Amino acid sequence: MIIGTLKENFSGEARVAITPESAKRLSKLGHSVIIEADAGHMSGFDNRAYEASGATIKSDAASIWAEADVMAKVRPPEDVESLRHRQTLISFFYPSQNNELLQAAKDKGATVVAMDMVPRISRAQKMDALSSMANIAGYRAVIEAGSHFGRFFTGQITAAGKVPPGKVLVIGAGVAGLSAIGTAISLGAIVRAFDVRPEVAEQIQSMGGEFLFLDFEEDGGGTGGYAKPSSPEFREKQLELFRHQAKEIDIVITTALIPGIDAPKLWLEDMVKAMKPGSVIVDLAAERGGNCEMTVADQKIVTENGVTIIGYTDYPSRMAAQASTLYGSNIFHMISELTPNKDGILVHNMDDEVIRGSTVTHNGEITFPPPPPKMSAVAPPQAAKKKEMTDEERREERSAQFRRSTRKQALLLLGGTMVTIAIGVVAPASFMQHFIVFVLSCFVGFQVIWNVNHALHTPLMSVTNAISGIIILGALLQMGSSQNVVLILASISILIASINIVGGFLVTRRMLAMFQRSS
Ligand code: NAI
Repeated sequence: MIIGTLKENFSGEARVAITPESAKRLSKLGHSVIIEADAGHMSGFDNRAYEASGATIKSDAASIWAEADVMAKVRPPEDVESLRHRQTLISFFYPSQNNELLQAAKDKGATVVAMDMVPRISRAQKMDALSSMANIAGYRAVIEAGSHFGRFFTGQITAAGKVPPGKVLVIGAGVAGLSAIGTAISLGAIVRAFDVRPEVAEQIQSMGGEFLFLDFEEDGGGTGGYAKPSSPEFREKQLELFRHQAKEIDIVITTALIPGIDAPKLWLEDMVKAMKPGSVIVDLAAERGGNCEMTVADQKIVTENGVTIIGYTDYPSRMAAQASTLYGSNIFHMISELTPNKDGILVHNMDDEVIRGSTVTHNGEITFPPPPPKMSAVAPPQAAKKKEMTDEERREERSAQFRRSTRKQALLLLGGTMVTIAIGVVAPASFMQHFIVFVLSCFVGFQVIWNVNHALHTPLMSVTNAISGIIILGALLQMGSSQNVVLILASISILIASINIVGGFLVTRRMLAMFQRSS
């Protein structure tokens, strides 16, 4: 099939839907790519790079519309005049806000795959363009804040005096929020974060941030990894918490949003007034009205008390090279799902949850909204449950768990002993010697692993693998042999086992480093 892409004509939009890299990967799926001249210019990809990746450059958008079987874009088209019957359009489309465009695409008999409708399930992560863009927005929000904040993020002790670290508050710890938290922490700031979904607390803490718990019993988790609207009482408590923080915090990054409704107002005028001069607020929800009461969309304002409020709505486009690379990859993966046989033929399988969820018009019908996702992307809120328990209840639960596991182990030991005795009655003594060693090593191995968190099993296995270099012992014993063959084999065994041991420890160190907080 022919995949076409155009230069985005929305004012200020610098992204492009297909990069030279993704064009090359698309050709491996059996597709050919045509691209409008200079489409990648503002993202830093020139025509020559596209040509080198096998794409064809055309200077005329109309002929690309006419030739392409699939049109890949970033922004929704202004109209669907050029869209043909049975042509497929893949772009951000926002069907709930673009009803007329949706209707027109249906009337044309075209298929529209909305990149903003990719369900948030694990399998679809590689196509999740909203998350790719939110990740960039979170990062850029911190950089933007830093460029307007007159101090360091990190604390320093210099000859000239002590510099306190900057304090950052992130409200809403979804994709953009977590990205902002990670970026601010890596720059050395003290980061606090709040979200109505308590299950994100562990993620924030594991990144080195502080989760601000609210002493109020309400789980804000909705379906599909999104939040649900908070009760007025909860909101009051939340505002009280923020009011308390406002005096201390230097930078506030707000990302709180529930899809389909306006952004909740969480940073009110009095909080802005309570902030120190020089503080910065970056409101990522500006497009949906803003989380801060004083945000002006697409503008940067400075309040009377010297607080800068940034309401830009185009952060991904401000990092166009990165955004186009990620978006191009999301588009590639979407087309790859639509080309299951890698033969350049599109198969629009509406039984596939991801394709069904993202398709908003198909075969002359509007297929939006899709049925709700079968699975929630959210893990059960363990942290919240634990927090709700009193100390006494926690102690009781722990001792009950201990009793249960001791009883289970005693039963297992008894069963194992009886089976071993039964085998010993019939088996020869030499077999029993090895068998008992085998059973004991299974038991010890089980005991070592049982109480270790699942996430740490791989580093644990690599280290046990390393220390199980018993081969070395055997090989060392053979080193005194007078036969050359035995000597050579023993030397090879020592070499290989040493690589195993050293490699095992290196792998363990690297894996454990992934679980450690950067200091
Ligand atoms: P998300 O849905 O992953 O995260 C939003 C988070 O806000 C969720 O964790 C949710 O639980 C939380 N939340 C909802 N209501 C809340 C409340 N009352 N108090 C505290 N937390 C609350 O969304 P994502 O992808 O992280 O996007 C965040 C925002 O960034 C959205 O508004 C999105 O439109 C915006 N965005 C802005 C861009 C820009 O250029 N300005 C670019 C990309 C995204």
